[in-house]
Amino acid sequence: LSGFLAAPAAGGSVAAAPAASKPLTILYGTESGNSESLADKTVKEAKKKGFKAVMKNLADISVKDIAKFEHIGLIVSTWGDGEPPEAIESFHKEFMTAGVNLKGVKFSVCALGDTSYDKFCQTGKDFDVQLEKLGAERVAERVDCDVDFDEAYATWKDALFAALGSAETGAAPQIDLAAFGAAPAVEYGRKNPFPAEVIENLVLNGEGSAKETIHLELDLEGSGLDYEAGDALAVVPVNAADVVEAFLAASGLTGSEQVELKGEDKCDLKEALTYKLDITGLSRAVAKKYFELCKSDELGTLVSDEKKAEFKDWAWGREIVDLLELFPVQKLSAQALVSILRKLPPRLYSIASSPKAHPGEVHLTVAAVRYEGHGKQRKGVASTYIADEAKTGEKVQVYVHKNKNFRLPEDTNKPVIMVGPGTGIAPFRAFIEERGETEAKGETWLFFGDQRYTYDFLYQLELQDHLKSGALSKLDVAFSRDQPEKVYVQDKMLAQGEEIYKWLEAGAYFYVCGDAERMAKDVNQALIDIVAQHGGKSADDAAAYIESLKKEKRYQRDVY
Ligand code: 2AM
Repeated sequence: LSGFLAAPAAGGSVAAAPAASKPLTILYGTESGNSESLADKTVKEAKKKGFKAVMKNLADISVKDIAKFEHIGLIVSTWGDGEPPEAIESFHKEFMTAGVNLKGVKFSVCALGDTSYDKFCQTGKDFDVQLEKLGAERVAERVDCDVDFDEAYATWKDALFAALGSAETGAAPQIDLAAFGAAPAVEYGRKNPFPAEVIENLVLNGEGSAKETIHLELDLEGSGLDYEAGDALAVVPVNAADVVEAFLAASGLTGSEQVELKGEDKCDLKEALTYKLDITGLSRAVAKKYFELCKSDELGTLVSDEKKAEFKDWAWGREIVDLLELFPVQKLSAQALVSILRKLPPRLYSIASSPKAHPGEVHLTVAAVRYEGHGKQRKGVASTYIADEAKTGEKVQVYVHKNKNFRLPEDTNKPVIMVGPGTGIAPFRAFIEERGETEAKGETWLFFGDQRYTYDFLYQLELQDHLKSGALSKLDVAFSRDQPEKVYVQDKMLAQGEEIYKWLEAGAYFYVCGDAERMAKDVNQALIDIVAQHGGKSADDAAAYIESLKKEKRYQRDVY
């Protein structure tokens, strides 16, 4: 702080005039934390502009509370296939059929989502429609944001503030003096990822395995980045050279054409395709935009609204390059091509290390995705970038993504049960290390599963050491392909149902990580069955028991 600035008042902020007469309430519904952090940002900025603003989690309020708010800015994410975030599932359900009168309430919705899903921003759309239906007044249009949400969010926020009008509140702006505090020279984060050096890149599966699971160790020394067990690491991938070449060949362009991307300096096409753009993910959104360039009748039919399901089937195992090949555009311009592509999104991986066990490092467990689709070899962008390019000594751009919804209990005496087949083991390796480092007294139980014992027992030696040291109390494994009948983690859970129920009654925390589509659903069902059988409960009471576990944050999931 240099001498010419007045000394800050105690407390760090100067509240000037009386509070606003019409407070702004920022409501949010979040899964991985993006909506929450935007809500926080909106409130801070609103205060600076002189609004009286508060934020509330939709998970913590009831439907009738909505009528009490005068101005609502609602920021909500869509998760999976058009679903609301888990924490607001019951709020959403109730609100969509509610009969409350919202006359006099003003609102605007900012919807977060991912254009690679069909039901893009569905939850935000639901709230937008229902708020109006219940009599509330939309003061600014809904904005739908893709994964790369900064720009669209800023448009929404500006429109919201403009609609509310700064004069209306009567409050003078607050000056955030924290902004004058000593900030580090460079701050690494989402907008400025840290180039982390690869310490180690190992294949965890034995030779002969059908799987390719990478253990990656990165150096965070000097980054200022810190994390807790349960957090995720975002990796900014680079498109593979052969994929870029095939894309260029199909487009009929050379790669040396100059292009301009929104908010960036000019660069050549090849650079844009390699580092900046999603050139593989074949969503309906991108196919529709491509149709505007090629005008093929066949593609027009495929992307029409009546054919959503057919499009999904058709796109399965295909990539954007197939559009270029099947529906070529005469004299396609490089600029037109880049303008239909979205930014290359970073990928989140659950962190596999405890910072206490590995200071200055972060570890990941990553399954390399490779498959054949329509006669071509395809590969997952980030997972094969990590497998093939992130070799020792190379640098990988990363930042930490906090996950407050996936945390060990603060009280280390509480028992924990963890279910993590395949790469779902990642955060549990971190949890077990953390329990060891903190000399936790509570018991720790892991269910792990994979295809075969001989090749796929990820971190086997480490887990055995943890069993010896006591950081891990119990380990159950399900190797699905070692016998004619499939055996899965939920089968092992059911076989130990009585013991699981005992642990739950003793206050255990229950965690699941891994495949959302089938595994997490089956594990959830197994848990309900266990509670019903061993707790002597009806199906409804068992479901209510699970609900209360969730409310108490004793049932946490990190599923994808
Ligand atoms: P499979 O591939 O032999 O069917 C990690 O990928 C492990 O999860 C594998 O052993 C895989 O078995 C298993 N798996 C597949 N579907 C599952 C499900 N619905 N529930 C639990 N585990 C499953």
